[in-house]
Amino acid sequence: MKVMLTRLLSRARSRAECRSRALAIGSLLVIPALASIATGCRGDLSQGPPIHIVQNMDQQARYDPQEPNTSFADGRAMRPPVPGTIARGSLRDDPHFFNGRREGGEYATTLPTRVALNKVLLNRGRERYDIYCSPCHDQAGSGDGIIARRGYPVPPTNLASDPTRALPAGQIFETISNGVRTMPGYREQIPVPDRWAIVAYVRALQVSQHASVDLVPQEVTTEKGWSVK
Ligand code: HEC
Repeated sequence: MKVMLTRLLSRARSRAECRSRALAIGSLLVIPALASIATGCRGDLSQGPPIHIVQNMDQQARYDPQEPNTSFADGRAMRPPVPGTIARGSLRDDPHFFNGRREGGEYATTLPTRVALNKVLLNRGRERYDIYCSPCHDQAGSGDGIIARRGYPVPPTNLASDPTRALPAGQIFETISNGVRTMPGYREQIPVPDRWAIVAYVRALQVSQHASVDLVPQEVTTEKGWSVK
């Protein structure tokens, strides 16, 4: 009897102890959890999954790119645009500007009317030429760029040579866009207005290498000591 009583008492003591220990552990767990809910905010840095109390419509059923969707006859969730759709601002209604050609299909020989020939255009053209063309054609257009010197299967054309000077502006534009024979096209890298800026600059390079000294402003000829015949 005495033994049973002591056991019961000790169990009761241990139960009370256990409850208080549980409370202590619980408070250890709950308080930080509450604190993290109270202080953790959207945008905070954390290693754990984000606390996202107000869900709005952030998580909802949707199709991922390339996922199938049996609602459509072709089984694709990604719907192609209706044939003939043109995105706003993407209408290419000017063959001179976009393809370097006249209405009839022949190469244009001038800059498009919407491209103004001025110093800003030529500076832009020089910058873009130096980036995209000079590695092969050289900064002066000679065709002796660094890539050519390391060995390109075909020597790049001298842009100031007579056959290249005779090319219509639209054909140079097309060469930049689509490439020619062994030269790759730069349509993807160079936007249309920049291609025209390069065309204008190639013309300036050509003039610079076939110009007579009387085209040079007088203050420069005097400064350099060049004689004008
Ligand atoms: C990767 C080297 C390389 C780059 C970069 C390059 N070209 Fe060329 N280009 C060539 C080669 C090579 C040829 C000669 C192709 C042939 O005859 O097979 C050529 C030819 C040309 C021609 C002569 C076309 C013709 O019909 O005879 C023009 C004009 C020209 N390039 C302009 C440019 C312009 C402008 C750029 C810059 C946007 C440029 N190239 C960038 C390699 C290059």
